[in-house]
Amino acid sequence: MWTFISKHALSLGVILNAIGTGVAPMTATAQPSTRPAVMSAKITVHLDQPAKPISPDLFGIFFEDLNHSAEGGLYAELVRNRSFDFSTVENSQWNALTGWELIQRNGGRASVNIDAAEPIHPSNPTYAVLEVGDASGDVGLSNGGFDGIAVKQGETYDVALFARQLYHERRWGGRPTTNPAIMQPQEGKAGPLIARLETKEGEVIAQVSLALPPDRWTRLTATLTAQRTVADARLVLLMTERGGLAIDMVSLFPTKTFKDRANGLRADLAQAIADLKPKFVRFPGGCLVHGNGLGNAYNWKDTIGPIETRKGQPNLWRYHQSMGLGYYEYFQFCEDIGAKPLPVVPSGVSCKNSGYQGGIGQRAVPLEQMPAYIQDILDLIEWANGPADSTWGAKRAAAGHPEPFGLKYLGVGNEEHITPEFEERFEMIHNAIKAKHPEIVVIGTVGPGPSGDDYDKGWAFADKLKVPVVDEHYYESPEWFLQNVKRYDAYDRAKSKVYIGEYASRGNSLHNALAEAAYMTALERNGDVVQFASYAPLICKTRHVHWYPDLIYFDNERVMPSVNYAVQQMFSVNAGDAWIPHTLSVDGATDADPKGVYLSSVRESASGDVILKLVNVGPTPVRAEVSLGGATSVGPQASVTVLTGDPTKLNAGDPRAGSNAAETPMTGVSSTLQVGPTFTVDASQHSLTVVRLKTK
Ligand code: AHR
Repeated sequence: MWTFISKHALSLGVILNAIGTGVAPMTATAQPSTRPAVMSAKITVHLDQPAKPISPDLFGIFFEDLNHSAEGGLYAELVRNRSFDFSTVENSQWNALTGWELIQRNGGRASVNIDAAEPIHPSNPTYAVLEVGDASGDVGLSNGGFDGIAVKQGETYDVALFARQLYHERRWGGRPTTNPAIMQPQEGKAGPLIARLETKEGEVIAQVSLALPPDRWTRLTATLTAQRTVADARLVLLMTERGGLAIDMVSLFPTKTFKDRANGLRADLAQAIADLKPKFVRFPGGCLVHGNGLGNAYNWKDTIGPIETRKGQPNLWRYHQSMGLGYYEYFQFCEDIGAKPLPVVPSGVSCKNSGYQGGIGQRAVPLEQMPAYIQDILDLIEWANGPADSTWGAKRAAAGHPEPFGLKYLGVGNEEHITPEFEERFEMIHNAIKAKHPEIVVIGTVGPGPSGDDYDKGWAFADKLKVPVVDEHYYESPEWFLQNVKRYDAYDRAKSKVYIGEYASRGNSLHNALAEAAYMTALERNGDVVQFASYAPLICKTRHVHWYPDLIYFDNERVMPSVNYAVQQMFSVNAGDAWIPHTLSVDGATDADPKGVYLSSVRESASGDVILKLVNVGPTPVRAEVSLGGATSVGPQASVTVLTGDPTKLNAGDPRAGSNAAETPMTGVSSTLQVGPTFTVDASQHSLTVVRLKTK
């Protein structure tokens, strides 16, 4: 898909270069005759005036496992319900065998049940028991993955499972246990277990034999090489002799994961995220953090260690969370993409909307349990940052990372209802972290919206406690974003800093994306107050939309970024660390957003580059005369990246695009421009233009 996008972006680039001359309008949209063909803008960038620091971590991402973004998504595991854990709590149609099929072909006879008598680990209580009465035909189990298993010809896939022979040949039933040959499984006695990739029709596209283990849980591994490319293959496990076999943790991973990590991430999806060059990653939620009731809150300790010892649980978004993508993998991913980890822990209260039957209201952890609850949070800090010989640092080291992860930011709570119970518990957590780990920056919460009761109470509470940063969320219309570009201009600089942990303009059209871009120019202008910002949600599997819109859509074979992704990327890779004062007038108008045109000018100190971001939301092209006040030497060339198109269109792959999909995916297209202390840049209608230039 990436290749596809780049190829088409190139041809779009040719068209855009033509627009860059200011001659050819991009779209065929008819212009009313009264509207001027081009608006004239004057931009003065005051390099000679003091610049204002911008948070070095302004643009990042927020990842939550909703929309199957982890299970069946970023987490590269291809087997669904690998641990026989699905339950009716997650979906009324599900049980521990959901996703699995018993195979009895050509006269073979077998049965499958779920047992819990002797699990691999207490955190992982159930497993499957396969009993074969007649192995003359194919007998075993098959798993169709998450909407099928997509495999590519020539690629290798690592299969792994835990197995334990229960008996060989005949089941002893109630008979006295006198015949060891019948009752005792013997090493090497039973025939091998066959692991295959098959098409839906049963054609074998990869096969390997695994020696069966004796009567203790043993991990079996092998590699399968796909002989064909198939979109919806299945993993098949076949027994070749009569007997009983316990099976658990059946796993299939592409050998090639992102950065070749074991228990790793889907390479193309992880790369799309990495290409955003986020400065931080907020995880694991969202609503997922406080969960559906206190018992369902996300417990980081359940998510580390060998995967067979992790404790999966129902996900608030109504599917099973294996915790295969756990805290170690999240931190490792952050390190792999050069982003700072920003985990969020629950704040001692449940979501006020907990309970699917209309909501049970907020519940609070009993005060006598709070010391242990707080200790779990302090343990997290030790796990992330402590030396390898500390209690929790040793667990990180045992997982393969002796060096500390360098945790600096910690979110406490998500969109909580600001009640006395919340305040009491938050204060306990906040004070404990401050006392033991003053180096950690705590990020508080001020409710689910940009205003309202929780917002007001949350801010008043943060003021009282002097919480370093608070987390604001808003999902609003594009018009709201455009009307609120001055929101942070008026924020009191003496108060808590702001993390906009979740925001989106309720749509994936270019118009939405440009409204977000306009808003982001204001985030840069207020980069002294707004420390972090992350669009939400980040990714979505097209057949499992729990929340719309999203930034990146995907299915088992493709990654399809929205046009909003292009905006996030253009800002993120061009983020500066100092905001440079400027003036902007458009056809004589000089307000903050004259005639729907928005500007930000920043400097990136690492390269010394000056970066201009010009957003033209409206339907009229702009020709801007730029003057760089105070520059002695400029250019001679600048790189220019332009995103434009039909404002009503969405990128293909968006589940709601339908006939409204743009013919070629809308993305930033780069070219060069001759520049000097003064130069001209054209911003077509409905566009974001980023100009990056060298100055002295
Ligand atoms: O981003 C989706 C959800 O929106 C998050 O889980 C929650 O924090 C917010 O309400």
